[in-house]
Amino acid sequence: MNSEDSNLDLTRIRREYLAESFDEGDLLDQPHQQFQRWFEQHRRLDPANATAMVLATASEQGLPSARIVLLKHFDQHGFCWYTDYRSLKGQQLAQNPQAELLFYWPELDRQVRIGGHVERLDRGSAEQYFSERPRGSQLSAAISHQSYPVGNRQQLEQQVEALSRQLDGKTVDCPDQWGGYRLRPVRYEFWQGRENRLHDRLVFCLEQGNWQVQRLAP
Ligand SMILES: Cc1cc2nc3c(=O)[nH]c(=O)nc-3n(C[C@H](O)[C@H](O)[C@H](O)COP(=O)(O)O)c2cc1C
Repeated sequence: MNSEDSNLDLTRIRREYLAESFDEGDLLDQPHQQFQRWFEQHRRLDPANATAMVLATASEQGLPSARIVLLKHFDQHGFCWYTDYRSLKGQQLAQNPQAELLFYWPELDRQVRIGGHVERLDRGSAEQYFSERPRGSQLSAAISHQSYPVGNRQQLEQQVEALSRQLDGKTVDCPDQWGGYRLRPVRYEFWQGRENRLHDRLVFCLEQGNWQVQRLAP
C-alpha cells in the first residue's frame, strides 16, 4: 500500500438509497418466488454476474469462511452450486452442513440472504452438469485439487497439457470429488435499501413447515 492509499478515508464515501418502498403486501407467498422475481429484475440489469453469490460456511469450531460460487439451479427445494468436495468449503460443509448464501444487487439497492441446511447433490447431477461444461473447464477441474497448495502456475498448466494429451480428444470424466450441493432454505431475508438508511428488511422463517414473515429493524 502506498501513502496515497493509506490516506483514503472510507467513512466519507456515502450514497443515498432511494428505492421505492418494499412492504409486506408486496411479498409473494413463497420465498423462492419472491427470490425469482428479484433475481429476474437483477438479471435484466446485470446478466453477466447474475448468478454470482457469496457462500458462507463455518468449521465445526465456528471458524467462518466465505467465497463466491455460481448459482446453477434454484426452486422451492433449494439453491444449487458445483465445486470440489475436497476444498475448504467442502471440508467445512462435511463438519457443519449449515451455510448462508448472500446475493448483493447494487443496481437495485438489494441484498438477499438465504440460510439453511446443505446436502450433496447426487452423482447423476454432477455428471450431467460436468458433461455440459466447456472442455477447458473440465480439464482444469480434473487436475485441480481445489484449495490445496501448488508450487506454481506452470505445474497446473503442465498437468492440464498432460491430461489433454493423454485423453487425445476423448471425454473428460467427471472427477469423483467434483459435485454439487443444495442448500435447503429455512430462512430468507429480503433487504431493500431506502432513504436515510431506514431500510426495509423482510424475513421468511420456516416454522413447522410454514413460512412466517417478519419485519426487522434496519
Ligand atoms: C465469479 C466467481 C465465480 C466462482 N464460481 C465458483 C463455483 O461455482 N464453484 C467453485 O468451486 N468455485 C467458484 N469460484 C472460486 C471460489 O470463490 C473459491 O476460490 C474456490 O471455490 C475455493 O474456495 P474454498 O477454498 O473456500 O473452498 C468462483 C469465484 C468467482 C470470483
